[in-house]
Amino acid sequence: MSLTDCRSRRCRRWITAICVLLMVAAAAGVWGWYQFFHEEPQPAWITDNPEMRFKYGSIGAEHDAGIPYWIFYVLPRMFPEKLPGPGGLAALGVAWEEGMELPIGFTKKTIGFPRVANTCAVCHTGSYRVAEDSNPVFVPLAPNHTLNLAAFFRFLIDCAKDPRFNPDNLMREINLVTDLSVSQRLIYRYVLIPITRKRLLERESQFAWLYHPGFPDWGRGRDDAMNLTKYFMIEWPMDDSFGPTDMPSLWNLGKYEPERGMRMNFAGDSHDAYSVLIDSALGLLGAAPKDKDEFLGHIDWMLEYFTARQAPPYPFAIDRPLAERGRGLFVAECAGCHESARTGTVVPVEEVGTSRDRIDTWNERAAREANEVVEAMGIRRKGLVEEPLRGYVAAFLDGIWIKAPYLHNGSVPTLRDLLEPVASRPVTFRRGYNVYDPKKVGFVTDGAEAERVGTLHDTRLRGGSNRGHEYGTALSAADKGALVEYLKTL
Ligand code: HEC
Ligand code: HEC
Repeated sequence: MSLTDCRSRRCRRWITAICVLLMVAAAAGVWGWYQFFHEEPQPAWITDNPEMRFKYGSIGAEHDAGIPYWIFYVLPRMFPEKLPGPGGLAALGVAWEEGMELPIGFTKKTIGFPRVANTCAVCHTGSYRVAEDSNPVFVPLAPNHTLNLAAFFRFLIDCAKDPRFNPDNLMREINLVTDLSVSQRLIYRYVLIPITRKRLLERESQFAWLYHPGFPDWGRGRDDAMNLTKYFMIEWPMDDSFGPTDMPSLWNLGKYEPERGMRMNFAGDSHDAYSVLIDSALGLLGAAPKDKDEFLGHIDWMLEYFTARQAPPYPFAIDRPLAERGRGLFVAECAGCHESARTGTVVPVEEVGTSRDRIDTWNERAAREANEVVEAMGIRRKGLVEEPLRGYVAAFLDGIWIKAPYLHNGSVPTLRDLLEPVASRPVTFRRGYNVYDPKKVGFVTDGAEAERVGTLHDTRLRGGSNRGHEYGTALSAADKGALVEYLKTL
């Protein structure tokens, strides 16, 4: 029987019913698509201004790693005891500009419903204050030395593990702060809250090393980046390595010349900036990009932005004649590694003598597997270096004044301390307080406020050693002063 043959009333009723059902299904499909997937561009004040785009612009992480906005909003209110201190998210040391809805590095984008995710700026925007009573100055592309990343990861998981994370409680809190439509309330209650909880809990095993009783806290401003890659990207089981580092700076990336043997990341694990950008962005997305061309468009834009931006100038007075004298000492003592063909290349760990914990978090096989994962996404890049790690990259020192604390693991609080032999460097200090100390050149590490805000760095614990790099330590106190004065000019 064909449709044109359908003359009986019963048959016509069937056809009508089927048509109605199809229309309802189509309408439901469109409604569902709209509620969960329709994308709205971010506002022009974010997308049209390069600095705003860096700080708040989406790179596509909302698709798989986004948290529904209202859940993100109420968690700090519901579970303040799971944060490291009072003040909501600010207790995590995020860089929060006055009057902004979200901290720097947190993106808000509607894909069906408003979602919050992260961008590079969360770790790669620094801050300093010239005095305790002054406002912070935020410096895009500088290391975020105040961010307590481990506490942030743990906060989300600990919330999800709490039985109070349930639709009744969350809806009560959400209804206090916003007036959602009936359909949105139903979606939050029956879909978004259960799914968000489930997805956060799924990550728990990958984050196991954050709860490892034998590992000290990373503390503010540190990230165990290669372990994150190992446990999330290639999903290895937890091993015994522990190597949190500071966040590096991202300005002036054109200084890295891979064809001259320069490598990126502290231990030289990656070939070039393009590869690091891709791998970092994939880490934030937590999955293959939904739209590869759009994704690579973000990468190209960032690479251009990071290449053009230069280090921020030192914000206090510099004694120029003294710095000029320091220049001579720099040439004699430091330029062999920091202003030569060695700069940007790996110096063997036996030579520089610093902690090898970070090196031991990564290896050749991990690099090979991670490269395979990216290749399988159809993304071409030079990628991670498939060789054993040997040491640390001789750092470029542009903008070094704002990169405190020093060495890859942030184990020496100030430049002046770095010029002391290991035995005379501070054994413990507070990190993550952002008042600047122009005398020792670094951030203030003691006093009541630094102790209240900062986390304790203990150089005797795993991942914290301040050993090695004893260059310039035999200079006289006056010469050290001159050398530090010169370092301010870089
Ligand atoms: C969770 C914090 C975090 C986020 C988010 C993050 N990074 Fe990083 N980034 C790091 C850390 C830590 C390192 C150093 C890793 C190491 O060598 O151990 C690093 C290294 C780098 C480097 C190498 C710098 C150098 O001089 O060798 C580049 C480039 C970079 N990141 C770019 C990005 C980009 C682009 C994004 C966003 C797509 C991003 N990062 C997101 C923490 C972060
Ligand atoms: C033999 C090579 C070599 C010499 C000489 C050398 N450095 Fe370094 N420097 C390195 C290496 C390698 C690193 C990275 C070590 C690490 O992070 O573990 C480094 C790191 C640093 C850092 C920390 C960078 C950061 O982002 O935390 C500073 C500051 C620094 N050097 C200053 C100096 C000064 C000042 C001198 C001269 C007194 C000097 N260096 C001499 C190889 C050298």
